Formats: sequence, C-alpha cells, structure tokens
Amino acid sequence: MSVHSPTHPALRPGVLQNLTLPNRYVVAPMSRASATDNGVPTEAMAHYYARFATGGFGLIIAEGAYTDPCYAQAYGNQPGLCTDAQQAGWKVVTEAVHRAGGRIILQLIHAGAVSQVVNTPHAPSAVRPMGKMLDGYGPNRGPYGTPTEMSAQDIRDVKAGFVQAAVRAQSAGFDGVEVHCANGYLLDQFLTPETNLRDAPYGGSIENRIRLTAEIITDIRAATAGDFLTGVRLSQAKATQPDYFWQGGLADAARIFSAVAEAGAGFIHFASEKKGYAYHSSTSDGESLCHFARATTGLPVIANGGLQDPDLAHDVLTRGEADFLAIGKAAMNNPDLPNRLATGRQPEAFTYELFSYGVSIEGQAKWEGERRGLPQS
Ligand SMILES: Cc1cc2nc3c(=O)[nH]c(=O)nc-3n(C[C@H](O)[C@H](O)[C@H](O)COP(=O)(O)O)c2cc1C
Repeated sequence: MSVHSPTHPALRPGVLQNLTLPNRYVVAPMSRASATDNGVPTEAMAHYYARFATGGFGLIIAEGAYTDPCYAQAYGNQPGLCTDAQQAGWKVVTEAVHRAGGRIILQLIHAGAVSQVVNTPHAPSAVRPMGKMLDGYGPNRGPYGTPTEMSAQDIRDVKAGFVQAAVRAQSAGFDGVEVHCANGYLLDQFLTPETNLRDAPYGGSIENRIRLTAEIITDIRAATAGDFLTGVRLSQAKATQPDYFWQGGLADAARIFSAVAEAGAGFIHFASEKKGYAYHSSTSDGESLCHFARATTGLPVIANGGLQDPDLAHDVLTRGEADFLAIGKAAMNNPDLPNRLATGRQPEAFTYELFSYGVSIEGQAKWEGERRGLPQS
C-alpha cells in the first residue's frame, strides 16, 4: 500500500449537510455483536467508537441498531434503539465520541427475513432467503426459514419503529441516522423483485418497491428537529448474494436515487462489500453508480469498498464519483487510519484472524493482546 501525500484529496475538509468534517474518511457501519443481551451499548463500545474520533476519522457511522423489540433484530448481542436503557447506553457512546472531537450517526436496521434471532421473521413476501445465516453471528445458524408475509399494519409498525428510533437517536446525541436499505436486509428485501412479490403500494414497479424506504426517510425528517442528518445506505449485492446487480442498471438507479432524494435524504451511501468498490458500485455494464447518484441528485455520496487504498481513493474523489470514503475492515485494525495516512505511517494490513475469537470488540481485544504477547484471561 503506498502512503498518502499530505495534499491527498481525502485529507481535505468536506461538508455533509450541516456537518463540516475535517477530512473525507468515514467509519463504515460494522456490527460487532458487543451489546448486552438486552441490546444495550456498553462502556467498551463507547471506548471503541471514541478511538476512531481520536484517530482522525471525520465521521463515524455506528453499526446497525434494531428499530423494534419484536422483529427487527438481526443478531444476538446487536445493539437496539427502542428502549430507554438502549437510548441511555448510546448516550454514553455519543458523549465519548463528541468529547474526542468526532461526529457520529447511527445506522438503523430491520433484518426482515434474514434475522438470526426471530424464529418466524417478517418479510415483504414469504420467500426463503438464498444462502445461509452468517457464521460469525448467532444465535441461530444454518439455512434461513421461510418468513411470514407482512400485513399493511406490520408495514405501518416498521415505519413507526424507524421513526421512533430516529427520535431516540437525536435524544441520545447522535448527529444523524442512516436508514439501512442495503445488503439484503428488510428495506432491500422490499426493493428487490425476487424477494418482493407484493402488489402496490409496496410491490410491483421499482417506484413501489423503494416507497417504504422513501416514506421512512420523509417521516424521520418530519419527526426530528432542525438539521438532524438523515441519510440512506444502498447496495446492489446482498450479504449472502455478493454477485447481485440491479437488473435495470442505470434506469433502476435513476428511480431509486430520485426517490430517496425527493424523500429528503441528506446523503447516499453506496455499500460495496466483499469484491470491492469497482465491482459492486458499478452496474453490470460498468457504469459508476456513485457518480450517477451524485450527478443526478446533487447529494453528497459516500463510497465504500477497499478505499483505504490511497490510489483508488484519489481516483474516486478526483473523478467526482464520491465526496466521502467509508472505511470498514481497515478501520477495525487501524482506528487511527486518517492520522496514519496524513503523517505517512503505513497502516496495518487487515486479516480475518482478527475474528479468531469472534466479531466482538472483546474478541478483537483478546486477539490483539495475544499478538502483543499479553497474558490472556
Ligand atoms: C464485521 C463486519 C460487520 C459489518 N456490519 C455492517 C452493518 O452493521 N451494516 C452495514 O451496512 N454494513 C456492515 N458491514 C459492511 C461494511 O460496512 C462495509 O460495507 C464492508 O466491510 C466493505 O468495506 P471495506 O472494504 O472498507 O471493509 C460489516 C462488515 C464487517 C466486516
């Protein structure tokens, strides 16, 4: 990995709605399954998130938090934001990050059909998800079951859950929220024709399939005060279907991007897990979806997928494809990545051995301690 020059465009300040950020580096949302059994964020999580702020990240997008206590949770020990105790736990996290000079927004997620917690999950249609549950997370493992098709009331409940969680996020001190419509979770299940066999108003045309996400964005904007930031995360690929592309290419993208922009989204964040930015953030014809989102909506765009590479980051920013760079795995073992790059210090290469003791923050600490030769408890 080559090292940044101090004039690299990723080190220039940027503006995301009301937030002026010192550089273009954003921590990507990463589920660490480190909350209590009741989904309450811990002191260890506050320390973990504050480290990114100290390390120079302009913005942190905290891991997906579930939006209702019955159907939204994806994994065991995932944090939620639907109880007073969870809200109080997150307040400790936001205060720690703000004390360290950082900004933090929270990703809001409903797992829908791919919950590994709910025994009969809710989904747009009774379609069994492809692939199998993620190994690193529990408590359920193995093939997915067939979910229950949601009623009109269930859909109203989902919306209410997102809105109440966003209001709680503002009270807990977050600078904004990100609505998760990516990677195969509930809102992406609505967007995807193979998992949404419904009729109007929430199935059928692409306008209908993105409607729930758009309504949630609009409702959050109406329910939260002032210039609280409400963005959206989108993707083509699913966690268990990495080679999925939007069938209609740019024509689909135009409808999706304009729907979330008209709903009032403050940014579009495009996720590119597994095979990286160039593969997942392009249509199957090779057109850049980030560039298209930025050009057609005028919204700030956050790109993702291996963007710790300074050359790729340079190209993405200077070609006008994105405004910000969300860093996932490389941030996990380099919470000071921006400071390292600014001062010419080489980042540590990411290795999946970091998950030797599980995906949790405690698991990472144990692995890091072992590497430093510390005695393990
Ligand atoms: C352990 C782990 C947990 C993740 N959890 C989430 C999550 O909660 N929400 C989400 O949208 N993406 C999640 N992702 C995907 C990342 O945000 C990101 O898209 C992915 O790691 C690719 O970026 P990278 O190449 O910089 O690692 C997760 C990824 C990892 C490795």
